[in-house]
Amino acid sequence: MKELFPFIGYESGELLVEEVPVKRLVQELGTPLYVYSRKALEFWFREFDDAFSDVEHLTCFAVKANSNVNILKLLKDLGAGADTVSMGEIFRALTAGIPPEKIVFAGVGKRKEEVEYALERGILMFNVESEGELELIESVASRLGVEAPVAVRVNPDVDPKTHPYISTGLKAAKFGVTLEEAERLYLFAKESKYLRPVGVHFHIGSQITDVSAFGEAAGKVSELVKVLRDRGVELEFFDAGGGLGINYHPEEEVVPAERLARELIPIVKELGLKLILEPGRRVTGNAGLLLTEVLYVKERGDKTFYVVDAGMNDIARPALYGAYHHVVPVVGREGKKRRVDVVGPICETGDIIARDRELPEVKPGDYLAVLSAGAYGFSMSSNYNSRPRPAEVLVDGASYRVIRQRESLADLISREF
Ligand code: LLP
Repeated sequence: MKELFPFIGYESGELLVEEVPVKRLVQELGTPLYVYSRKALEFWFREFDDAFSDVEHLTCFAVKANSNVNILKLLKDLGAGADTVSMGEIFRALTAGIPPEKIVFAGVGKRKEEVEYALERGILMFNVESEGELELIESVASRLGVEAPVAVRVNPDVDPKTHPYISTGLKAAKFGVTLEEAERLYLFAKESKYLRPVGVHFHIGSQITDVSAFGEAAGKVSELVKVLRDRGVELEFFDAGGGLGINYHPEEEVVPAERLARELIPIVKELGLKLILEPGRRVTGNAGLLLTEVLYVKERGDKTFYVVDAGMNDIARPALYGAYHHVVPVVGREGKKRRVDVVGPICETGDIIARDRELPEVKPGDYLAVLSAGAYGFSMSSNYNSRPRPAEVLVDGASYRVIRQRESLADLISREF
């Protein structure tokens, strides 16, 4: 196979995921269709997890990147824990069989019932984002008569040099607390009967390819850990968040997870803490793609539009962030190329999947694949324009299994009576 990404590529002019020609999938299951490769998921999880084998660590997959229970189950079998940001995500992780002691819970707006839910189930730790939240956790814990394990999410004020919408570690962002405030919160937690400080957390952003930002952040956070130690606060976990980027173009270089490991390992070794990591995109991003059918080829002046049946409700990243997703034909074509915009059916000008691309000539009824769609693809989809959401399918070798059925028209209104 001539690979575009591991386990995804062409053979005799046909696009394959592992051994399955994707044309067969669209013929049997329709479009739009999300497809994932089991082997690729395993490959990316291991590439990441193995890079840290030198230190005691727990890789908590960021459920927001891909929340399908079957994907979570598969990752659980590889040893993954879960990084969650809502009661819904904790519910999904537990349903997949991920043990509560491998679940961390972050998010700036945790509700009381979410705190209760997490405490009752005995999660590993709350990544606390404000003083108000710490007080809420304390009051819920005291009512339940338990001790809540907490980490403070610190905002180390480093620039991850990524898209502003997904930069979280700068002072101006709503996430975490300053290093100074963190110290105060730890001392408060130490004195409380119902709070147990167990870790420290930071997450500086997403799609980061300059790994030095991680080293810089971890360095600042390790200073805090040392100060806390002097003040009698002993922690167990150093949670360095997620954020390692992927290549969205098959010919672009991938930053090896080893490089991230080299930034973090010396720091946790020196501190003697257990490392927690929260990769999302890195594990599932390039293990999935979105298949779509060409509905019309529309010409206007010197512009050509390929109108396809997947829109910004199915894959929001291009419209939301101007993100690049590589688009390829399902049946490879030699010959003439055209400069086109690939656009969806949604009634918004921003509904563009790929702008100004060189693509082969196609005709209605042909299929295209939107690559690198395994993270923040389906999980960010919606029913906008009353479009039932796509099915999801998991390929394993020469076989495949539907892991989420396509929504029906009845599903759209099932809660409206
Ligand atoms: N941990 C925390 C606390 C997070 O907030 C996130 C992502 C992650 C881990 C996982 O980050 P990753 O390894 O996937 O970069 N929808 C955007 C990405 C938003 C990321 C939000 N937080 C996108 O499609 O690019």
